[in-house]
Amino acid sequence: MKRTVLTMLSICACSMGFNAVAQTSTQLAAEDHPWWQRAVFYEIYPRSFADSNGDGVGDLKGIASKLDYLKNLGVDAIWITPCFPSPQVDFGYDVSDYENIDPMYGTLADFDELAREAEKRSIRIILDLVVNHTSDQHKWFLDSKSSRTSEHRDWYIWRDGRGPGQPPNNWVSTFGGSAWKLDPATGQYYYHYFYPEQPDLNWRNPAVRGAMFDVTRWWYKRGVSGFRLDAVDTLFEDPELHDNPIAHPGTNAFGDPFEENKYNTKLPEVHDVLQGLRKIADEYGAVLIGETWTADVHELNHYYGADHNELQLPMDFLFTTVNKLSAADFRKQIAEVNTASGWPTFVISNHDIVRSYDRYGDGEHNDQIAKLMAVLYLTLRGTPILYYGEEIGMKTTPPARVEDVKDPIGRKGWPKEKGRDGERTPMQWDRSKNAGFTTGTPWLPVSPTYKTHNVAAESKDPNSVLQFYKQVLKLRHTNQALLYGTYTAINEDDPNVLSYLRVYNGQGVVVVLNMSNVPRNVTLPLKANGFSSARNLISTGVAAPRAGKLSLPAFGAFIGELCVKSAPTARQ
Ligand code: GLC
Repeated sequence: MKRTVLTMLSICACSMGFNAVAQTSTQLAAEDHPWWQRAVFYEIYPRSFADSNGDGVGDLKGIASKLDYLKNLGVDAIWITPCFPSPQVDFGYDVSDYENIDPMYGTLADFDELAREAEKRSIRIILDLVVNHTSDQHKWFLDSKSSRTSEHRDWYIWRDGRGPGQPPNNWVSTFGGSAWKLDPATGQYYYHYFYPEQPDLNWRNPAVRGAMFDVTRWWYKRGVSGFRLDAVDTLFEDPELHDNPIAHPGTNAFGDPFEENKYNTKLPEVHDVLQGLRKIADEYGAVLIGETWTADVHELNHYYGADHNELQLPMDFLFTTVNKLSAADFRKQIAEVNTASGWPTFVISNHDIVRSYDRYGDGEHNDQIAKLMAVLYLTLRGTPILYYGEEIGMKTTPPARVEDVKDPIGRKGWPKEKGRDGERTPMQWDRSKNAGFTTGTPWLPVSPTYKTHNVAAESKDPNSVLQFYKQVLKLRHTNQALLYGTYTAINEDDPNVLSYLRVYNGQGVVVVLNMSNVPRNVTLPLKANGFSSARNLISTGVAAPRAGKLSLPAFGAFIGELCVKSAPTARQ
């Protein structure tokens, strides 16, 4: 006997919301989004990732051995911080040869092998180009300091002092002390924004430009898919060397005055260089990511270039300046970045800043908060860059005693400035000795959290931070609304719960994040946005909303697919 049932279809692969329909006309087709807008990037600090030869320092073979892990996690591109020959004063950010691999990390053949293996898994490689300075052991600098008339003298910034024993001006190094160092042999000072072992290149000299541009070509031909450009803000200095104004009274951790870096950072000449680098990158379909410390979106916009001809991905550090879980502050920052003239790039941790686990963790709900933060930066409109270890909830573990500090700024600024060792501790692979990072003595001690937070244990635990990252990354890769959709903040007056919609071609996702330590109820304005209900895709202890009402536990996160009920249909 046939039975006719009247049913309301609320299948969520559903029809378009009305706002969504209007949005489609301005949206790019999925295939028109370049690869770096779809990709998830993963930053590897090679010293600390995986050590293949037991010397206590990670290496390229170690990275190669973990490519399957990265693929499985959902990583599309790895950014390896400098692995070039270097005296390691700044752990690789003092490069002495741009076209080789430091023996502690392996050989060029190891790099080629890594590139081949990565390509097999469709993982791209991004290298870190230290553009502002070289090592003082680079052959260019050794020649430069050899005499006032040497071929490379003008490749760096040499000046006479103001008077006996006085540097040319008042600029201080960001790593402490005067930014000028006297070379007694030639009687002049050279300029270094960072350590004295990192002399600044003179980018006003076309030969410097040509040489560095060639370095990028050299690596592109070897298969790299782009560069993260280090410290781009500091490329140029005022040629007249005006003194910097004092920003406010007092002294910093190094005992230096607080200067406003008016004359030695963010000079407009940098844009010409970035345009030059971009032209070359475009020839290879490559991406340029920038270490761009900007004060606001206006400054950030400059780095995309007036004609979108500079950096594709200037990193948004404004996001990392929100150092507490505040729905209102994040909402404001996201809204601002969303108005940027180019594609946003979200970062919540890196090798220079305290990990997100500690910046946002409350000591009690840290894993829950790590998951909440994962949802945040992996579901926004823009490209996320994950820092190694974030996906397992790694904790910043700074040294307890000054004699254990490896990062020179930590020794110099102790105890106010403990340096960056804490966020660079070895990756935690398993519960074995040294967390499976090395069979030798690790260059930095492993964080004691490795017993509970490690890849092996978390792979088996369905509720771990790692499993959660995998789920969110999987969704991100397959859900067009998350990849390409518009961002619309909802419930904007809510001081505790951050909520937003992502909509692409009628497909919608709602993200709801309780940034407070008590349960919260929210009502989602679904109808007003053309949707009728939301289906749970991924959440931490949140049931699917009923009639748009959602109850979230403390620090609960919810990702839902938006549905439009179709008209009643007859089913036989
Ligand atoms: C960048 C790097 C940092 C390094 C500095 C000097 O800020 O991220 O680690 O010390 O540049 O190269």
